Amino acid sequence: MSTAVDKRTVPLIDRIEAVVADIPGWSPVDQLYTLFCLVYLDPEAEGDIIEIGSWCGRSSVVLGMAARMTGAARVYCIDLFPEKDDWRENDDGTYSFEVVLDGRRYAGHNVQTVWREPFQRDIAPVYERYNSVFDRFIKSVEDNDLQDIVRPCRGTSEMIRDFVPEGFRCRLAFIDGEHSYEAVCRDITNVEPFLVEGGWLCFDDAFTTYSGVNRAIEDLVLDNPGYELCRQMTRKLFVARRRRG
Ligand SMILES: C[S@@+](CC[C@H](N)C(=O)[O-])C[C@H]1O[C@@H](n2cnc3c(N)ncnc32)[C@H](O)[C@@H]1O
Repeated sequence: MSTAVDKRTVPLIDRIEAVVADIPGWSPVDQLYTLFCLVYLDPEAEGDIIEIGSWCGRSSVVLGMAARMTGAARVYCIDLFPEKDDWRENDDGTYSFEVVLDGRRYAGHNVQTVWREPFQRDIAPVYERYNSVFDRFIKSVEDNDLQDIVRPCRGTSEMIRDFVPEGFRCRLAFIDGEHSYEAVCRDITNVEPFLVEGGWLCFDDAFTTYSGVNRAIEDLVLDNPGYELCRQMTRKLFVARRRRG
């Protein structure tokens, strides 16, 4: 087969860039490529993938592509998927949301709130084009034919057991939900019991401007003997591998 038509010779980073070009979100292409490689380069790994914080599916579809190319893994995407009316402006001009699910209220971005400028630049325009973030997420998944692999799970990391099958194991968890110290610690604690030896724990917005994310990684991961290969991989992606043995 001529290399011109052999898909394997097209640089994957270009393919990732093209796939996410129209998907609103915050994961840059170098970060997505790194997440992709952590899955793709370890095809023998056991278990599935968890993402906490999916928004419109930008990182979810890239994790889904890697899962599809390596075999059987599924990607469980946990997010409260707020509707437009769930958001409120706080007294200090930042934004938070509250979602009601089965009669219970769940707060999002209520400690580490969303600053006005990113809200108006990145969040409000999504609601001008789509009825809900969930609809936009589903479109991202369907556009890439990933319905069998990428599963939206409306809720929080406390509900993982409600979303995954019995005996669930996780090969990679990408934590990108609320960025407060308490929320990141909670997300780590909730995914950790499922993480296989050799599995990756990955964080967005690490060691940039979110002190809560930094502190949670420092307290629960960086000096924890249960993790190895702790490393800042790109400008804002930090990863750590669950120690084997
Ligand atoms: C930074 S965005 C995720 C970006 C996405 N990973 C990307 O690549 O574009 C953060 C997401 O976390 C969700 N979120 C905030 N608080 C949450 C919580 N307590 N539980 C679940 N999701 C939450 C928000 O709805 C939002 O979609």
